[in-house]
Amino acid sequence: MASDEIGFLRNVPIFAELEDKDLQRIAKLGTRQKYKKGNIVVLEQESGAALFVIVAGKVKVVRMDEDGKEVILSMFGPGEFFGEMSLLDGMARSASVVATVKAELFMIHRRDFLELLHEYPSVAIALLAELAMRLRKADMQIKSLSLKDAAGRVANVLLMLADDLGVFRKGKVEIEDLPLQQDIANMAGTSRETVSRMLHQFIRDGQVQLKGNKLFINDFEGFRKQHL
Ligand code: CMP
Repeated sequence: MASDEIGFLRNVPIFAELEDKDLQRIAKLGTRQKYKKGNIVVLEQESGAALFVIVAGKVKVVRMDEDGKEVILSMFGPGEFFGEMSLLDGMARSASVVATVKAELFMIHRRDFLELLHEYPSVAIALLAELAMRLRKADMQIKSLSLKDAAGRVANVLLMLADDLGVFRKGKVEIEDLPLQQDIANMAGTSRETVSRMLHQFIRDGQVQLKGNKLFINDFEGFRKQHL
């Protein structure tokens, strides 16, 4: 089990610089927990006691707007972490986090995680770099939500998903496991019908292709320039 855990931790970007003996220590600090699809892992407004790293599965970070409509702030998959904000600033959880498929998470308690940050500067720096990246994405999302028409909003979410999940090849991007149209709508602040309409328009214009669950953006730079 411990060697399993080290194999997993070695592939977690914020722990990338650590040696095996350090990973061994972290392996002992954390515990694994399983969640079913739809389970709430973190509830907005509760106090935060732990950080989570995704071993398997996927989660979405959500907030409810005034009408109870869900807005998706981000989605995370294997190797990514969440729950750091309330650990760092001592305030309540900033959003809820929900498993979108069956998931397994590695959980580290607040005190242990803060101790790790003191002890291993490389973990603290990698965490800051990731937070900077998330702030950039949040800036993109704010711009998209405040300025764009429906086509721009949907295109912006596709660009964010491409950055997050895309495989780039010769100017073309493949997003292997496109989220549900309702989830894309909740990220873009629009309706599912609008997402469907826009996707079909992009397909008609030859900008994207959809094959089952896979989406291809044919000319990523061109698509980005047109919609940013
Ligand atoms: P925390 O506030 O402890 O609990 C909810 C978590 O969701 C938060 O930590 C972050 O890990 C994550 N989160 C909140 N807002 C965003 C965002 N805009 N983008 C990505 N992740 C977020």
